[in-house]
Amino acid sequence: MNSDNSADSILDRVLVMEMVRVTEAAAVAAADLVGRGDEKAADAAAVEAMRKCFDTLYIDGTVVIGEGERDEAPMLYIGEKVGGAPGKGPKIDIALDPLEGTTITAKAGPNALAVLAAAEKGCLLNAPDVYMDKIAVGPGYPEDVISLEKSVTENVEAVAAAKGVEPKDIIVCVLDRPRHAELIAELRGIGCGVVLIGDGDVAGVIATTDQDTTIDIYMGSGGAPEGVLAAAALRCVGGQFNGRLLFRNDDERKRAAKWGIEDLDRIYKLHDLAKGDCIFAATGVTDGSLLDGVKRIRRPNGERIMTTESVVMRASSGTVRWVKGEHRI
Ligand code: FBP
Repeated sequence: MNSDNSADSILDRVLVMEMVRVTEAAAVAAADLVGRGDEKAADAAAVEAMRKCFDTLYIDGTVVIGEGERDEAPMLYIGEKVGGAPGKGPKIDIALDPLEGTTITAKAGPNALAVLAAAEKGCLLNAPDVYMDKIAVGPGYPEDVISLEKSVTENVEAVAAAKGVEPKDIIVCVLDRPRHAELIAELRGIGCGVVLIGDGDVAGVIATTDQDTTIDIYMGSGGAPEGVLAAAALRCVGGQFNGRLLFRNDDERKRAAKWGIEDLDRIYKLHDLAKGDCIFAATGVTDGSLLDGVKRIRRPNGERIMTTESVVMRASSGTVRWVKGEHRI
């Protein structure tokens, strides 16, 4: 068994479990709004609960990926200090999405999550809020089996060859968007199974690491911040990821310059997005391939509880913990 105790890491073991409390708080708050058709209210509830919970942790945290820039987000904005020990606790950078899948939550669809990644200062890419072209596979493949420099077909062929199967046996997960029409047509043209998801590409990328999902590859563009969160998860469980930022206009290019991104065409691999030791934590809001969502239970004696399912992982040890919570109301 690996040890969690990496002497040179400031991500104390205790923090691993503490991070779950933060995603649990956000998920429980958002759960009240599942299926209520109000994306903004669901997001706001998750943000507020996550913000409050951070203050109970002994950290000197800084949000590096959050709800937006200071002038557009009242809480958990990029650069906001979080944690109950400013100037005293370990300096930790945090990438977060209190509600990954706001539309899913509003419509009671699958795979909405509360997620965060925490790492030592400077270890998470400060990704601007633009799209990112992504390709990912789970663990066990030869290095660089996938690459954004290769065509869609070449990537599928490489993964199929490494797995010892035909390209038609490969299952690819893609966000169901008109911008992916060509990608989907190419995949179907070579006989691949395409799993279309409505939203939630953090769960889509992580699905490649779980054999039960049967998903071999994740492909397509989604949010760059979600790319960093997914990369942090793959750092912990293994897998490969390539991401390239996509800029649609000059305003987005300017934003990249503001974050210190000079090479606009750079292909980012796992360690470019999340390096050093890192923690990834997620709690299910609605049921999904990774986690069960929040459930309300009323016992015969009238007691009401909410149950949660979370996963928390750490890169330095590769330990993955599944955490079931019961919360008394
Ligand atoms: P939100 O929770 O912010 O709605 O994001 C959901 C999501 O599906 C992400 O998982 C994904 O990266 C992004 O939106 C894709 O963006 P778009 O909906 O513009 O295609």
